[in-house]
Amino acid sequence: KALIIDFGSQVTQLIARRLREAGIYCEVHPYNRAGAAFIADYAPKAIILSGSPHSTHWENSPKADPSVFERGVPVLGICYGEQTMCAQLGGRVEPHDEREFGRADIQITADSPLFAGFGPVGHEERVWMSHGDRVVSIPEGFHVVAASRGAPFAAIADEARRFYGVQFHPEVVHTPRGALLLKNFTHEIAGMRGDWTMAAFKDEAIAKIREQVGEGRVICGLSGGVDSSVAAVLLHEAIGDRLTCVFVDTGLMRLNEAEEVVTLFRDHYNIPLVHADEGERFLSALDGIDDPEAKRKTIGKLFIDVFEARAKEAGGADFLAQGTLYPDVIESVSFDGGPSVTIKSHHNVGGLPARMKMKLVEPLRELFKDEVRALGRELGLPESFVGRHPFPGPGLAIRIPGAVSKERADILRKADAIYIEEIRKAGLYDTIWQAFAVLLPVRTVGVMGDERTYDHVLALRAVTSVDGMTADYFPFDHDFLGRVATRIINEVRGVNRVVYDVTSKPPGTIEWE
Ligand code: XMP
Repeated sequence: KALIIDFGSQVTQLIARRLREAGIYCEVHPYNRAGAAFIADYAPKAIILSGSPHSTHWENSPKADPSVFERGVPVLGICYGEQTMCAQLGGRVEPHDEREFGRADIQITADSPLFAGFGPVGHEERVWMSHGDRVVSIPEGFHVVAASRGAPFAAIADEARRFYGVQFHPEVVHTPRGALLLKNFTHEIAGMRGDWTMAAFKDEAIAKIREQVGEGRVICGLSGGVDSSVAAVLLHEAIGDRLTCVFVDTGLMRLNEAEEVVTLFRDHYNIPLVHADEGERFLSALDGIDDPEAKRKTIGKLFIDVFEARAKEAGGADFLAQGTLYPDVIESVSFDGGPSVTIKSHHNVGGLPARMKMKLVEPLRELFKDEVRALGRELGLPESFVGRHPFPGPGLAIRIPGAVSKERADILRKADAIYIEEIRKAGLYDTIWQAFAVLLPVRTVGVMGDERTYDHVLALRAVTSVDGMTADYFPFDHDFLGRVATRIINEVRGVNRVVYDVTSKPPGTIEWE
C-alpha cells in the first residue's frame, strides 16, 4: 500500500482517488501524525507528499518526517511536497513575485520512468500549476526531467534513490495525463501491482468499523439516499444487530420513497429500523413559512428533535453513524482562514453529534460519490438505490417555492414521478446528475376541453455535473419535453403549464431554493 502525507492542500484526496482508480490501496495521513514510528508500522511501498497552502519559508512550515527519505522507498513530492523535499534534502526554495496559476506547458528534458508513455525528450505536455514559491536549486543527486517557462524545475528526479518531485498537480483533471504520471510512479517506479479493488475496500472498512465500535451500539439515520443507505448496509455487515436505523419520514419525500426505504431495509436486509412517520408534524411546522433558509432551519431542527427522541426510545447507542463523504469534508474546511459565504445551509444532521453527545462513525469519509455507488453495488444494494439521483435533506419543501402544503406536495410528487419515469424510459437517467420538478406558486390561465383553467406552473430541472459544485442544464430534445409536459398536464390535476429551466450553475444553483 501507498502512503499519502497530507500538508493541507485542497486536492490531496484526489491523489488518493487517482491511486485507487489505478488499483493501489492508499491512505491519507496528516504530516503531523505521520512520524517515524507510524511510517515504520504502516510500511508503505511508496510515499507521496501532497501540496499545501503553506510556504516552506514560513516559521514552523510543515515538514515530512526525515524517515520518509531513509526508508529506501520511492517518494513523490507534489507542489509543496516537491518544495519541502528540496528544502529538506539540501536544495533551495524561494518565494517568487509572480505566482504561476492555471494551465501551463511543460517540456520533457530527460528520460525518466515518471514520464513513461508521454513522449520522447522534447515532448510538450499540458499540466495544471498552482504555486507561489519555486525551487531555485535542487539537492545533490537530482536532475531536471521537465521544465516550463515559469518553473525551470517543473519535474525533478533522483533516479538512484527513486525520489521525484513535480511542481504541477498531476492529481487534478486539468492535468489530462496526470493519472498516467501517478501510475508510472506507483507501478513502474515502486513496482506495485495495482490489484486493489472495491471489494478489498469493503473488507477494510468493515474491519475498521469493528475496531472503532468494539462491542458498542450504533444509531444510523437513514434518508433513502445513496450515502446513508450504503453506510447502513456496510455497518450492518460489520456489527449486525447492534445497528439500529432511524428513518425520519418528513412527508416531504418523493412518491413511494418512504415505503421503498422501509421495505428494503426492514424486510430485505432485516436491519432493525425505526420508521418515524412524522409528515404531519413537519408540514404543520412549515405552515406559513416561505423563506428558503427558514424552511431549512425549521426542518433541520425538527429533524434533530425527532431523531433524538426516536433514538432514545430505541434504547440509545454509543455511536452515531453518518454517511459523510469526502466532498462534505472539504467543503466544510476553510483554508484561507476567512469565513466563506453561506449560499445554502445544507442540513445533514450537523448539530446531532454534539447535542446527543455521541461519538461519530463515518465509514464513507474518504470516498467520492461514484466510489460510494461502487461500494453499494459491492454490498449488493439494488441498482435503483445505488444509482439514485441525490435528494436534498429538506426534500420537496425546497422544491415548492413559497408556502408548503400537503396538497402542493402531493401535486409535486405526482408530476415528479411522471418526469422521472419518462427520463428512465428514454434511457437518460444515468446520464443526468439530478432531475426533478419544482412546483411554482404562480398560477396561469389555460384551456382544457372547453373549460378555462387557472392552475400552477411546474418547472422541470435536469443537470449534468461531476460533483454538484458546478452544473450544466441537460439538453433534452423538444419531443421529449413536449411528451413530458403533455403527460403531466393530462395526469396531474393542479398543473396546467410546464416550463423547462435552462440555467447552469453558476449562476443558478441546482435546486430552486
Ligand atoms: P445547489 O442547489 O446548492 O445544490 O446547487 C447542490 C447539491 O446539494 C443538494 N442540496 C441539499 N442537500 N440539504 C441537502 O442535504 C440541503 O439543504 C440542500 N440544498 C441543496 C442539491 O440537491 C444538489 O445535489
